[in-house]
Amino acid sequence: MNLKISLFLFSFCSILALNAQPYKQFTPGEIWKDNNGKHLNVHGGGILFHNGTYYWYGEHKVGGEIGNTAQVGVSCYSSKDLYNWKDEGIALKVNETDPASDIVKGCTLERPKVIYNAKTKKFVMWFHLELKGQGYDAARSAVAVSNNPAGPYIYLKSFRPNAGFWPVNVQPFHKKPVSSSVKSKYCGGKGCLPAPPDSLNILGRDFKGGQMARDMNLFVDDDGTAYHIYASEENSTLQISKLNDDYLSYSGQYFRLLTERYMEGVTLFKRNGKYYIIASDCTGWAPNAARSAVSDQIFGNWKELGNPAVGSDSELTFHSQSTYVLKVEGKKDCYIYIGDRWTPENHIDGRYIWLPLTFEGDAPKIHWKDAWSLD
Ligand code: DGJ
Repeated sequence: MNLKISLFLFSFCSILALNAQPYKQFTPGEIWKDNNGKHLNVHGGGILFHNGTYYWYGEHKVGGEIGNTAQVGVSCYSSKDLYNWKDEGIALKVNETDPASDIVKGCTLERPKVIYNAKTKKFVMWFHLELKGQGYDAARSAVAVSNNPAGPYIYLKSFRPNAGFWPVNVQPFHKKPVSSSVKSKYCGGKGCLPAPPDSLNILGRDFKGGQMARDMNLFVDDDGTAYHIYASEENSTLQISKLNDDYLSYSGQYFRLLTERYMEGVTLFKRNGKYYIIASDCTGWAPNAARSAVSDQIFGNWKELGNPAVGSDSELTFHSQSTYVLKVEGKKDCYIYIGDRWTPENHIDGRYIWLPLTFEGDAPKIHWKDAWSLD
C-alpha cells in the first residue's frame, strides 16, 4: 500500500471514530450517532423506561422542507445507559396506500409519546395529528398500541379530546352561547385570538366537537393514573385530561391551566410529591424563553416560576424547545431536560439538547454544559 493510500485510510478511519459509539457523555447540540453511525432521527420525542431499557420515540424526519410533514412515521431507539442508542426502526409507519387513512403519508404527526399499561400489558402511543392538507386546523390526538416497546404499533384512532364534557374548573360564562364567528385558524404566536369576548371562550366554541389538542405529553402518576397534557384553545391554554384505565381514551375529566399563556412544547413530571411543567412560549419553530410551573395537585393551583434556563442564551433556552423531562432511574433526584434545536428548512439535521435539570427550592433550573455525564 503506498503512503498516500495509507494516509487516506488513516484519516478516513479517524473521522469515522470521531463522535462514534461508545459515548461516555452528552454533548448537547452536536451530531449524535446511533449504532449504525447515523445521526439520531427522533425529534419532538419522549422516553419510556421499561425492564432496564430506555426507549426513545420521536418524529422521523426526512431532508428538506417536506420533512415538516410525516413521510415515514415514528422512530424508536433503545439504550441501557442513555448515551448510546440502538436504532430499533420505525415503531409506527405512516400509511402509504390508503389516502383516507388519518395517518396517510404527508399528514403532520408530532410529539409522539409512549407509556406502558401494566394492567393490559400494552404499550400505548399518543401523538398530535394534523390531517393531510389541513394545516394545523384538525388539532387532534391520536392513539396507537403495541405488545412490544419498539413496536410495530397499530394505529387505532384520532379525535378531539372530551367532546361534550366541561372541564372540572369550567366557569359559568363558558356555558353561554358562543358566536360562530370565533375563528379557528392556527397562527402560531402570541395574541392570535380574536378580540374579546370571543377570545375568552374557545372552550365553549369547541364543547360539542371536542377541544383542540396540539403539542402534548403523557404522564403516569404513582398510582398508575395516566394524564395527557396538551396545548388547547388555539394554543392559548393548556389542558390536562385524565385517561381511562386502559390509557386508550379520555375519561371526560379534564382541567384548564395557565390560561391564555400561550405555551407549546409542554412537559409534565413529578418530584418530591409536586407536579412540574416546563414548556415554551408559542413562536413556531423559533426558540424562545422557556416557562416553568409547579403545583401540589395535578388538577390544582399551578404557579408559574419563570424561565428555568439560566445564564448566557437562556432567553432562547439555549436555542432549544422543551420536549420531555426524564427522571433517570436508579439515581437520586436526577432529571434531564430534553429539548429540540429545530432546523425547519432541513429537520433531519435537528439537534438534541440534553441538560441537567436541577432545583433551587421548588424552582427548576437548567444551566448550559458543552459536555456532561450522569456521574
Ligand atoms: C411549535 C411546536 O412546538 C411544534 O411541535 C410544531 O407544531 C411547530 N410549532 C409548528 O410550527
